[in-house]
Amino acid sequence: MRTQVGIVGAGPAGLLLARLLHLQGIESVVLEARDREYVERRVRAGVLEHGTAQTLREAGVGDRMDAEGLVHEGTELRFDGQGHRIDFAELTGRTITVYGQQEIVKDLIAARLAGGGDLRFDVSDVTLADLDTDRPRVRFATDGQAAELACDFVIGADGFHGVCRDCVPELTVYERHYPFAWLGILAEAPPSSHELIYCRHEHGFALHSMRSPRITRMYLQVPVDEPIAAWPDDRIWRELQTRFATRDGFALTEGPLLDKGITPMRSFVAAPMQSGRLLLAGDAAHIVPPTGAKGMNLAVADVRLLAHALGGFYAEGRTDLLAAYTETALTRVWRATHFSWWMTAMLHVDPADDPFAARLAQAQLDYVTSSRAMATALAENYTGLPYAQGWSYR
Ligand code: FAD
Ligand code: PHB
Repeated sequence: MRTQVGIVGAGPAGLLLARLLHLQGIESVVLEARDREYVERRVRAGVLEHGTAQTLREAGVGDRMDAEGLVHEGTELRFDGQGHRIDFAELTGRTITVYGQQEIVKDLIAARLAGGGDLRFDVSDVTLADLDTDRPRVRFATDGQAAELACDFVIGADGFHGVCRDCVPELTVYERHYPFAWLGILAEAPPSSHELIYCRHEHGFALHSMRSPRITRMYLQVPVDEPIAAWPDDRIWRELQTRFATRDGFALTEGPLLDKGITPMRSFVAAPMQSGRLLLAGDAAHIVPPTGAKGMNLAVADVRLLAHALGGFYAEGRTDLLAAYTETALTRVWRATHFSWWMTAMLHVDPADDPFAARLAQAQLDYVTSSRAMATALAENYTGLPYAQGWSYR
């Protein structure tokens, strides 16, 4: 088998890149370890930066997002039993869209298959070879048979637990582990607020988000390595009600839980994001704690750069844009890494913290919610900094 660009992983990064390449007349094959149903059901991110939503529209996969996604013009920071609104639209002229990552994945898969694109699920044993040549190869197994894909470039979009990152020699890893995790739930209950609520309580962080006018998504800070069995549904609701309570009597609307799971938190950046003809994108190269809602948005920003650089290679034989990929991508990655770390530190309770640390977090929340300059800094990072250029080379 032969293609121009071999893409490992059908998450948002791999699928969107395949789409942006297709729109520039560049052929690719996408190889995914899981089955279609699994990737379409995996509940993860929900917040799209202004530019992510715009990119999906430009890619011709924004119709359902525009019909069903919820546009939010602000968010609430809640602490000390009181809410404080950050008005994104007024401070930055930008908004965010709440639309589930698995819905984007569904839309991208549908577009890929409708266009006759090559997308293979259930592949296993992916290994990469000849990355230092101009004919790299991806070896894999499908239906019990060994197969080989010869390409011009290989894209590692296989997420944090993928195999491609290990093919970059002399990788430097920058990392932070946090002493807590998030317990996430999906509830069949109408959201209790029309915007997201990021809440700091002495018991820890809580987040109120949503997926639709009938489905609420919420998260609770829990100890790292907490077993999910420690959290029967009634304990989850009790703790959510406690953390979100306000002085004027706010109460969450409850409903049956449709999904619950625990996610560890980490910051992780691997550099360089490329070696020879292999380029990494999205979670394969970097992870941020979800407090800043940046992970999927960074994956989109990476593949915009790759689409542009590969466009330049196939249109005019340019190699300079590809050579600059790591440096260009990491500028945004580090900004988002700082923002996500900062939001996490301000809103969570570190079990090792002393009263001094708690006062610092409180002082920072007071400042962000009383200073227009600080509120604007939060809003411009959250809604997404502008891209330096378009994704299409032409
Ligand atoms: P992935 O989505 O992980 O996709 C990688 C794909 O590669 C997967 O389908 C995997 O099955 C496949 N794969 C892995 N190994 C192989 C292999 N060897 N061979 C073939 N295929 C392979 N981000 C936001 O922007 N906003 C949010 O609000 C947000 N909230 C989040 C909440 C939670 C609870 C979590 C866990 C994450 C959240 N994120 C958020 C982060 C976001 O989900 C990820 O950053 C995003 O999924 C990254 O996309 P990706 O395509 O790089 O990787
Ligand atoms: C979500 O809706 O899943 C979500 C929203 C905001 C975050 C993280 C996750 O910061």
